[in-house]
Amino acid sequence: MISTFLCRAVFLLSAISGTVLASDNSTDFVERNLHTIQSIYNLTVYPNNVPIIQNGGSAVPPGLFNQDARGRVTPVGNFTGFEDSIEYFFSLAPTPQANPAGAAIFQADVVEFTSGCANVAASVVYLKTGPVNATTGQVIEGAKTTALKQAWSSIATGVDYTNVTIQQGAIATALCPGIQDRCTGANQQFNTTETCIAELSQKPFGTFDEAWGDNIACRTIHLILTGHRPEVHCPHVGPNGGNGPDNFKCVDIDYNEYLNDALLFGSSEVFRC
Ligand SMILES: *[C@@H]1O[C@H](CO)[C@@H](O)[C@H](O)[C@H]1NC(C)=O
Ligand SMILES: *[C@@H]1O[C@H](CO)[C@@H](O)[C@H](O)[C@H]1NC(C)=O
Ligand SMILES: *[C@@H]1O[C@H](CO)[C@@H](O)[C@H](O)[C@H]1NC(C)=O
Ligand SMILES: *[C@@H]1O[C@H](CO)[C@@H](O)[C@H](O)[C@H]1NC(C)=O
Ligand SMILES: *[C@@H]1O[C@H](CO)[C@@H](O)[C@H](O)[C@H]1NC(C)=O
Ligand SMILES: *[C@@H]1O[C@H](CO)[C@@H](O)[C@H](O)[C@H]1NC(C)=O
Repeated sequence: MISTFLCRAVFLLSAISGTVLASDNSTDFVERNLHTIQSIYNLTVYPNNVPIIQNGGSAVPPGLFNQDARGRVTPVGNFTGFEDSIEYFFSLAPTPQANPAGAAIFQADVVEFTSGCANVAASVVYLKTGPVNATTGQVIEGAKTTALKQAWSSIATGVDYTNVTIQQGAIATALCPGIQDRCTGANQQFNTTETCIAELSQKPFGTFDEAWGDNIACRTIHLILTGHRPEVHCPHVGPNGGNGPDNFKCVDIDYNEYLNDALLFGSSEVFRC
């Protein structure tokens, strides 16, 4: 089983809005839930993701996410609420303009799916990525493609993030200039690019497989999200990885709390039926 970047999200399907919910006495919920899952992941495929990256939640078709959607997108972390869910789901789906290899998701295959009751479904989805034609979204003929995971960040960006020299260069030439560019005014995190580099160079790099934690990999991912709602996301790339108990992402997490279903979903039995 390939563990792809976005595929291990846990969803509370009961949260799906009433317009698509058939009544629970019918058996067609299996088809309905599969359709919902496929529709959600289809929106990560380029260029379907572009309007959502540009306009946030208002560009998401109705009926896919409830206002109170919540879950975990391993390895990025937990999320609560519609806008949060949208951002984690779609803003992180790559566009060919945003990386040197021109890579994007060109296909989302639901390879495992089961739904034993109306409100719960589990799935494994392979998000296939590779260089695409920026106009059509078609994968470039003969190009190297892969399922989206840790190795993908090297392939997609053309950067070997395990190389320490490159790690340091990424802070100095990409991360800190990006933070200073995106997080300004009330959202400013560091006084200067130099103080940013000095401070963040003290932190471990981390890996894109475990993109939570007080590290560089986490901030690199969260920098992507600062384009939309910078007041929420800029603190995540700052010195403390967040600005309060309800808004922290790049901090070293307590795994027991991360996996606490009662905390996140209000019940530890929400996925049983
Ligand atoms: C489910 O049951 C309700 C109440 O008995 C009924 O009105 C409704 O038509 C049923 N739905 C389906 C899809 O059979
Ligand atoms: C998902 O995308 C595929 C490929 O474009 C398409 O065949 C399929 O109908 C779409 N499914 C849904 C539910 O949108
Ligand atoms: C992308 O597709 C368009 C439309 O089919 C085509 O005109 C263009 O040459 C393609 N670009 C590349 C780089 O293949
Ligand atoms: C790390 O990257 C630097 C700069 O690109 C390069 O000179 C060096 O050979 C790389 N080291 C290894 C072990 O690949
Ligand atoms: C930024 O500069 C001000 C004034 O010199 C200083 O008081 C403050 O501590 C600095 N902040 C950081 C995060 O370095
Ligand atoms: C999300 O995960 C963090 C990190 O472990 C945890 O502290 C926080 O309580 C979690 N939030 C919810 C609502 O589960």
